[in-house]
Amino acid sequence: MKVLAVYGSGRKEGNSSTLLRRAVQGARDAGHQVLEYEVYDMRFGGCTGCRKCKEGGEKVCVLQDDLRPYFEELYQADAVLVSAPNHTGQPCGPMITYLNRHYCLLDTDWNVKVKPGIKVAGFFSQGQLDEACYQQTYRGFMADYQRRNMELIDILVHSGPTPAGERPDLMQRAYELGKGL
Ligand SMILES: Cc1cc2nc3c(=O)[nH]c(=O)nc-3n(C[C@H](O)[C@H](O)[C@H](O)COP(=O)(O)O)c2cc1C
Repeated sequence: MKVLAVYGSGRKEGNSSTLLRRAVQGARDAGHQVLEYEVYDMRFGGCTGCRKCKEGGEKVCVLQDDLRPYFEELYQADAVLVSAPNHTGQPCGPMITYLNRHYCLLDTDWNVKVKPGIKVAGFFSQGQLDEACYQQTYRGFMADYQRRNMELIDILVHSGPTPAGERPDLMQRAYELGKGL
């Protein structure tokens, strides 16, 4: 199985990345191939709405930036694991920009170009102690993958001041999620 792991925090040892890295370990232990992307090391812009991915018939977004290799791999991928910190009540800005670019997976008639059933999971972190506080927001973020015929496996939320790495319950869930892909 080919797994794409997209780390969405500028804090590479931060909470959301720590959880995702644990899931990646599980996936590798299960024998899966994992390709990793650090969004804060990548240079890319927002969708310009040029629609060359639609009327132009282009398979992936024509913007020549660091997201292009990711979209090319997505056509061969079986799973996508994404992480993001909560910034002002939603996944951080670069991850919203990244998600917007998935517009290129739809054709003129809103048909999805990638194969159906790619598994997706989200790993989010927030300062707010109440874990349920932003649940709707995270569900909304992951729903955009589901609208592209992907299958949502789970959403893990780290909340509050205890670092994710010191939360054995969450770390175990993350590992098992990756191992069970
Ligand atoms: C710019 C910014 C805005 C934030 N806004 C919120 C917020 O609205 N709600 C919240 O619960 N936490 C908020 N936080 C706290 C982070 O979500 C929290 O520290 C999280 O653990 C960071 O995840 P990371 O370690 O994966 O980067 C904010 C942090 C930053 C830097």
